[in-house]
Amino acid sequence: MAEPVLEVSGLVKHYPLTRGILFRKQVGAVKAVDGVDFTLGRGETLGLVGESGCGKSTVARMLVSLERPTAGTIRYRGEDITRLSGKALKAVRRNIQMVFQDPYTSLNPRMTVGDIIGEPYEIHPEVAPKGDRRRKVQDLLDVVGLDPEYVNRYPHQFSGGQRQRIGIARALALRPEVIVADEPVSALDVSVQAQVINLLDRLQSEFELSCLFIAHDLSLVRHISDRVGVMYLGRIVEIGRDTEIYDHPTHPYTQALLSAVPVPDPEAREHRERIILAGDVPSPTNIPSGCRFRTRCWKAQERCALEVPALAVPEEFRRTTGPAAHDSACHFAEDVSIRRSAPEVVLPPEETREDHVNGSA
Ligand SMILES: Nc1ncnc2c1ncn2[C@@H]1O[C@H](COP(=O)(O)OP(=O)(O)O)[C@@H](O)[C@H]1O
Ligand code: SF4
Ligand SMILES: [Mg+2]
Repeated sequence: MAEPVLEVSGLVKHYPLTRGILFRKQVGAVKAVDGVDFTLGRGETLGLVGESGCGKSTVARMLVSLERPTAGTIRYRGEDITRLSGKALKAVRRNIQMVFQDPYTSLNPRMTVGDIIGEPYEIHPEVAPKGDRRRKVQDLLDVVGLDPEYVNRYPHQFSGGQRQRIGIARALALRPEVIVADEPVSALDVSVQAQVINLLDRLQSEFELSCLFIAHDLSLVRHISDRVGVMYLGRIVEIGRDTEIYDHPTHPYTQALLSAVPVPDPEAREHRERIILAGDVPSPTNIPSGCRFRTRCWKAQERCALEVPALAVPEEFRRTTGPAAHDSACHFAEDVSIRRSAPEVVLPPEETREDHVNGSA
């Protein structure tokens, strides 16, 4: 892997559960993130996937310093940034920017697009002197495929896809090195999702960005990810290069997620087994002992309740160099090679301009 830009180790976020009005007493904790490790290489895109509630957004918020971890460290270019404050924090924040999930609520409806995209310059005036800002904002609009003349319009005058382009432009304003995109297309119509993903893909190479791309659907991230991590109940359970995860998943949870992805090829469809997971995801306030996936795993045995499986290359694949030799937190990891069961989602070419504008012209 390329030189790491971000190194995350043992990252934990527990939200205390309290009871009582006068004497607040902690009675438990929501273990939203419960020991996450990964690295993000320079210029790399890492997809982070998992069902709703597994802790993806909490990881994202900690990476961009919107929340403080309960434990663990985040390193940026080798420097521990986990507990920075003041000037040092401000300098690091500039380099790690977030694209939010919902472009309808993340843009201030009372600000013009120009003010929204230019807002980061108020905090970092050294990046763009006042007289230069309008031009910079217009350049950014152009970069994300919007007409620079839109600079004085308001968010309600744009479609969902266009609003997300505005959100992306704002994230790029300070020329960050890392982009954390938290389900950037989940709130958009399926027809516009591909355009926004293609835009991110293009910007990633144009600006040599390192990107953490969060999604709840494995098929969405394949197109743009170099590596993929699968999360379950606050932890990464499997992580590897895209072909390793999609064609040779060794963790039962990943195998189940992939088996649910629709397959266009009828022959491949016939040859694969659809895995239906039993039960619901346990509450993050009460995580099962041993392997946290065991209450839904069809392969669970006694050992699974007793021993926490480490996220590492499983014993049986350690002496091989094949695609099954990647990190998987399972005592009984198996390469079931569900090849072709995960289709490459073919995306139409990016439409560089969405000319349709909602509301008045
Ligand atoms: N501020 C908070 N206080 C208490 N619980 C929270 C808070 N934020 C998130 N959670 C809980 O943490 C878990 C993970 O949430 P989140 O990171 O939003 O998951 P995801 O983005 O994967 O859907 C959920 O159970 C959620 O309810
Ligand atoms: S460790 Fe056991 S319960 Fe966990 S995924 Fe592997 S087989 Fe299933
Ligand atoms: Mg989320």
